[in-house]
Amino acid sequence: MSMRKNVNSHPGRIFSDRRWILPFLASLLISITLFMASVFGLYSSSYGGDQLQFDIISIGKSEDSDGYFVESDLKRSFDTDGVSKKEVPRLAYLISGTKGDSQRMMRTLQAVYHPRNHYILHMDLEAPPRERLNLTMSVKNDPTFREVENVRVMEQSNLVTYKGPTMIACTLQAIAILLKESLNWDWFINLSASDYPLLTQDDLLHVFSNMSRNLNFIEHTQIHGWKLNQRAKPIIIDPGLYLSKKSNLALTTQRRSLPSSFKLFTGSAWVMLTRSFVEYCIWGMG
Ligand SMILES: *[C@@H]1O[C@H](CO)[C@@H](O)[C@H](O)[C@H]1NC(C)=O
Ligand SMILES: *[C@@H]1O[C@H](CO)[C@@H](O)[C@H](O)[C@H]1NC(C)=O
Ligand SMILES: *[C@@H]1O[C@H](CO)[C@@H](O)[C@H](O)[C@H]1NC(C)=O
Repeated sequence: MSMRKNVNSHPGRIFSDRRWILPFLASLLISITLFMASVFGLYSSSYGGDQLQFDIISIGKSEDSDGYFVESDLKRSFDTDGVSKKEVPRLAYLISGTKGDSQRMMRTLQAVYHPRNHYILHMDLEAPPRERLNLTMSVKNDPTFREVENVRVMEQSNLVTYKGPTMIACTLQAIAILLKESLNWDWFINLSASDYPLLTQDDLLHVFSNMSRNLNFIEHTQIHGWKLNQRAKPIIIDPGLYLSKKSNLALTTQRRSLPSSFKLFTGSAWVMLTRSFVEYCIWGMG
């Protein structure tokens, strides 16, 4: 009898425990959901904030690498020009590519496209005429580009040697066209077909709307010591100037003396230059 009672009391206890289990599980589920929601909510909001901060900080960092003068200029531009220069800027992009790059150039163009900006594409002479035509047609046939009319493909195709003077010459030619065709842009940026943006144009334009239009963004270090001899003294020949086929820069045996009237700097291939600076490069002093 007592054994049966014991056996009976056991399932009875389990039953009464089960009445607790359901609400317990439900409240556990709710609290886990709430916890996860708060964790993810916090994460995503702080991530967004971090990203914006990071962009501004990275700009400041690359600028102050060579002196506090630029940094104080940057600070001043935030403080004083912030009120007067509220309007959203416009950027002018050069996207350059060579043989086989037409698809990637279109990809870069679409990724950095914004109706406020201006774009010029240059495909160098190494690319077959069919590919250049293909790029021109892709731009011409795009309904958005046709409507806004802010994308053009350079008619002239130059032979461009990487790192050579023909590269600078081609960049300057593209800038000259951008200056001639559109009066209203604030900064020039050049990209290659393999570049891809890390943030949207809306974000970029938003961040730069507070920035003084007189700031150039270029990473630079002065060349010192052995580097001066290695970088500044060799005389190179750019075959792009006289050949019709692409080949590498040729090094001569002669060396030149160091310039005495200006200092030499080395810098990043990715630059963001003000309109006034590139105007100076094209037209010279006022
Ligand atoms: C031209 O472009 C299209 C896509 O826009 C591509 O499928 C085709 O292969 C390209 N042709 C040449 C010759 O590059
Ligand atoms: C931008 O243009 C300069 C000058 O021609 C060149 O040295 C640099 O490599 C270019 N940058 C890119 C990303 O193509
Ligand atoms: C621009 O400046 C204003 C006031 O000076 C400030 O409220 C705003 O957050 C700034 N925007 C950016 C993107 O820095």
